[in-house]
Amino acid sequence: MRRLRASEALRNLVRETVLDPGDFILPLFICPGEGVRREISSMPGHAQLSVDRLVKECAEAHELGIGGVILFGIPETKDELASGAFADDGIVQQAVRALKREVPKLLVMTDVCNCEYTSHGHCGLVVDGEVQNDPTLEWLAKAAVSHARAGADVVAPSDMMDGRVAAIRKALDTAGFTNTPIVSYAAKYASVFYGPFREAAESTPQFGDRRSYQMDPANSREAMREIELDIEEGADVIMVKPAMPYLDVIREARQRFPTPLGAYQVSGEFSMLTAAINNGWLDRDRTILESLTAIRRAGADFVLTYFAKDAARLLA
Ligand code: PBG
Repeated sequence: MRRLRASEALRNLVRETVLDPGDFILPLFICPGEGVRREISSMPGHAQLSVDRLVKECAEAHELGIGGVILFGIPETKDELASGAFADDGIVQQAVRALKREVPKLLVMTDVCNCEYTSHGHCGLVVDGEVQNDPTLEWLAKAAVSHARAGADVVAPSDMMDGRVAAIRKALDTAGFTNTPIVSYAAKYASVFYGPFREAAESTPQFGDRRSYQMDPANSREAMREIELDIEEGADVIMVKPAMPYLDVIREARQRFPTPLGAYQVSGEFSMLTAAINNGWLDRDRTILESLTAIRRAGADFVLTYFAKDAARLLA
């Protein structure tokens, strides 16, 4: 076996998984104001950005050739009804309009969820301490349509309510957005690795947790059912999240479904690796590239990653 490992040229020739900047989607957090860059302490190098700063960041990301960005909003105020999630002048809607004006060729995905917009931090309508499924679908559908109206290229529901893909597809079609694809966070686990994101997006649930809607980390057959249902409901692309602790789920989804497949290397994965890198325990460049290669090798076509810009630079 060692004959083919003897030189860089030979290793290049037989490499099975190749990374490209176009495979990476950069998640970004948008906050109100102007000239704002508020560092996120648990995610070194990442920050909440006001729309003007976001535009600069995205212009740079586009220059680097990355596949796109996904936007998360931190609204001025939160309420019980997640009003900010579907307001036409909501924070994400403003950001999308600005990006489509200033960096029109960059692929803009929007995360469709309510937890950043509700006062209690849950992803849906809460009645008697329980997250309600069907009433939440209307909020999600309205949010998706408002994102599409603002110019989003793709909408990505991450709430894990049952039936949301069908509800969003129907609402988009009715509003005339028949060509807006849905990237569904189909198999999304109730993971500890979202911890830093909740600091970034200010979306920690004020009571309880998300285990009544996100998946049990112990299950993989259930993930296949989730994915199957989302495809039946009209998902154009499916996603597994988190990524590195769930490579088996990515692999199985790849084998079972011909649908394009994404994986989300989530905040906790980024923070964990960055902490080791910053301590000098892991080599930065190799850590970034090996972690992303592993996710692609397992079967993901593209990766949402906070390392998107760093990886793109390394591949340049
Ligand atoms: C919204 C959402 C979350 C993430 C993406 N969309 C947080 C959550 O479900 O609590 C996590 C992303 C990350 O950790 O990087 N529901």
